[in-house]
This record gives sequence, C-alpha cells and structure tokens, in this order.
Amino acid sequence: MVVVGAGIIGLTAAWRALLAGASVTVLDPAPGDGATHAAAGMLGPVMEAEFGEERLARTGARSVRLWPGFAAELEQAARLAPGTLGLDTRGTLAVAYDADDAAALRRRLTLHRTLGLESEEISPAQARDREPALGPRVAGAAWIPGDHQVDPRAVHRALLDVVRAHPRAHLAERTATALTWNDGTVSGVLDDTGTRWGTAGGDGRSPSRTVVLAAGHASATLYPGAPTRAVPGTTLRLDADATAGPSTVVRGTVQGRPVYVVPRRARPDGRREIVVGATSDERAATTRTRAGDVFALLRDARALLPALDEADLVETTTRSRPGTPDNTPLLGRAAPGLVLATGHYRGGILLAPHTAATLDTLLTTVPGATAGEPADPPHGPDTQESPCPTN
Ligand code: GLY
Repeated sequence: MVVVGAGIIGLTAAWRALLAGASVTVLDPAPGDGATHAAAGMLGPVMEAEFGEERLARTGARSVRLWPGFAAELEQAARLAPGTLGLDTRGTLAVAYDADDAAALRRRLTLHRTLGLESEEISPAQARDREPALGPRVAGAAWIPGDHQVDPRAVHRALLDVVRAHPRAHLAERTATALTWNDGTVSGVLDDTGTRWGTAGGDGRSPSRTVVLAAGHASATLYPGAPTRAVPGTTLRLDADATAGPSTVVRGTVQGRPVYVVPRRARPDGRREIVVGATSDERAATTRTRAGDVFALLRDARALLPALDEADLVETTTRSRPGTPDNTPLLGRAAPGLVLATGHYRGGILLAPHTAATLDTLLTTVPGATAGEPADPPHGPDTQESPCPTN
C-alpha cells in the first residue's frame, strides 16, 4: 500500500493498514506539517454542528464516542502511559459575549435538539461557577457535555512512532506529484524525484495493492475526483502559568465572531499550553499569518477570558483545512486501487477514529463481495509488496 500524506488521517490509514497485514509506504515531505500542525484538538461535533450539515454532525457525534477506545489502542501500540494523548472528556463551556451572541447561541441549541445532540442552556452565574476565569461580560451560556479535546500533536507523534517502528512500514519524505494508472487501476504514485512507488501491480483489491489518498487540501491536484479546497485557518499557542486562566474548554462568540480557547493539562514545570483558535477563510492555501488575525483572535479570547493577557504568545500557525463541496469527508473507494481518506475539513482530529473504523472495514473487504469477507489474512505478513520504490 502507498499512503499519500502523513497528517493525522494519512498515518491513521497507515496504522490501520499495518494492522490489516499490509506493507505500507507513506509519502510526505513534512509529516504532520499540514492542517494537523494548526489543529487545536477540539473534538466538538455539537458546537461545530451547522444548519444544513446534519449528516456531518451525526458522523462527528459517532466519532467522538469512538475517541476513548481509539486513544487507548494508540497509546498501547505506541507504548505510552494511559492519558499521554491528553484526551479530556470533561465537556465544553459555550459562552456568548453580547445579547446578539446569546440569541445566536439559543438558535444553535435548537439545532442540537433537532439533531439529538446534548446541550443545556445555563445562566452566566452557572457558567462562572464552571469556569471562574470568565470575564465580567457574558450574556448567555450553555454546557456541552459531549464536546471534548485531545492534544493533536501528541496523537500525531504517537502515530508516527507506531508507523516508523513497524517492520512493514516505510516513510519517505517525498512529495507525491501524480498517481500512476495501469489499465484503469491505480498502480502507484510518482514523486517529485521521478521515483515511482508501486503497489505491486496488482488488481487493486487487497490492502497492499491500494493507494490511499490522504493529502488534505492538495488531494484534488492528484485526483480531480477528490474535489478538495483549501480553507486556511490560524491558531495561536500560548504558554501560561497552570494556575492562571481557564481550566475548561471555552467556545464563544464575540459580536458574531467565533473563538475557542483550549487549555491543556499542566506540565511538570507548572505551566501549560493554551490554544486559541481559529480563523476560517475561503482563500488560497497559505502558511503565512496575518497580523489582523492574531489581533482579532487575542481580542476576542481576552474579552471572554481576561487572564489570558498574562500568558506568553509562543506560536502563531496558519495551515489549510481540506474542505469539500458539502464539507463531508471523502472516505471510501474511488477507483480500482484507490481509496480516498481526505476532505475532513474542520474535523481531521475529531474524525480520526471514524476514519480508522471505516478503513478497518474497507481494507479487509473485497470490492463487490459480501461485506465483511476478508481480502487478505488480517494479520499475516504481506510478501507481495516491497516497501522499496520501483522505478
Ligand atoms: N475544528 C476546529 C477548527 O476547524 O477550527
């Protein structure tokens, strides 16, 4: 198998393929330096549910329930202590800054009821009981018990360690430039040095004879049938004394602008990371951060949580989410020999367990066969494919 992309989704695909018995080559010039690098780790299917995106909201709600099992399995595979990935399932506080923000929050709570998603309106005083660091101006609030967080960089590191350590895996820091085709079947990937990474020239059925396209917003350039687009966003990383600032994930709206604040667990040095996010723009892909975006995120975050003024600003990151026409992920077989795992838009971290579960089924099922029929011995070694490139 060849996986194009070593972000959280590409590495999740590689990990699941290794578990299914495949040999796997992963191509990425800078593993984890795409959307994964900017991600705050919000697992927020409830507060990110949008009118008109009900299917996506339901998928997100299913995936968030898979996170505890996914995190535990990954921690075990990476030989990490339980809890290392920073999964925090204590819920999220939603706050509205002014009366218009409060009205918008109430409309959202109505959507939650329609979709069967759990949320509860609470008073500003109750919000302050939950999060004493809230500022004086809060016009409305809600408690969202099912929206969580995880540390996406810790998750990516664990996936990278698992894949790198596996004897049937090979990570090549190369840029994929084209898919190669043989008689209507995707047979491999060409990289920027002209090297072809083949999938054993097979019939495109077994996991080993598959290319998984997980190249985020760039997927469309390799396969036009994956209509991804860039949706750049900026997140900020603050470093703060663990006793100052919020201890709960806070997602708010300040005069119509969304902002979220994600406090991590304290480190042994008594400090902790706090992620503030995120802008979201329909424009060309970029990694450059606009001064106005940093200003706006800090202005809105400190309007809700004034103690953030005391934190150090240690990182500004701009990367592009992979949007799709309806913002639902492209996940499944697209052509013989080609599986898409891309277009996760705002949910790359949230939907990783859903992606893993989908691929677990897909990679062990022969196309057109009865669901569940194994294509390869699920855990046997694959001797048909070498992780070495074929030129
Ligand atoms: N899922 C968080 C974001 O896209 O900003």
